[in-house]
Amino acid sequence: MHLAPAEPSDIPQLTALEDQSFSSDRISPRQFRYLLTKANSIVVKAVDHETVTGYMVLLKRKTSSKLRLYSIGVAPSSRKKGIARALLTYAEKIATNYHCKQLTLEVCEHNTSAVQLYLDTGFNQYGLKKNYYEDGCTALLWKKNLSCEDTTL
Ligand SMILES: CC(C)(COP(=O)(O)OP(=O)(O)OC[C@H]1O[C@@H](n2cnc3c(N)ncnc32)[C@H](O)[C@@H]1OP(=O)(O)O)[C@@H](O)C(=O)NCCC(=O)NCCS
Repeated sequence: MHLAPAEPSDIPQLTALEDQSFSSDRISPRQFRYLLTKANSIVVKAVDHETVTGYMVLLKRKTSSKLRLYSIGVAPSSRKKGIARALLTYAEKIATNYHCKQLTLEVCEHNTSAVQLYLDTGFNQYGLKKNYYEDGCTALLWKKNLSCEDTTL
């Protein structure tokens, strides 16, 4: 498995992963195309034998010292093999290289596997937003403070 920047040619596989990962609030092919071409978003894919098995989308606001994990998903057949953990480690490297001091994210309160993932990787919950998702789920807000040392990607 290796991680690499996603490209427009990956959109069909990214969209398929999104469909397998979420029942609402899915990123559409058109939104992926926009995210892949926007300067302040970073889309990273996990690849295994030329198949995209996972991805994450990071968003960076020009004026903010925070990097937001906008979405992360792993193919059902590739779960529990450390792919999300590897993506989050990579997100931290990207954040420190952007001189971001914090990684932030939102997760549906019922998403137990993702909540466990963020607990295990050092995130702390700092708030919530009720009725945040299309299905009415409450979002839990998480953050991880980062050290400012430069790291090699
Ligand atoms: C959540 C998700 C990204 C995890 O991906 P993954 O590659 O399977 O996760 P990893 O193998 O890297 O697991 C890392 C840790 O996360 C936690 N975790 C992952 N899946 C879990 C599960 N089903 N139950 C409980 N904890 C789980 C564990 O702490 C795990 O550490 P361990 O393997 O040492 O026990 C994946 O289940 C997924 O794509 N879900 C659907 C999309 C989604 O919910 N995205 C998050 C939106 S906020």
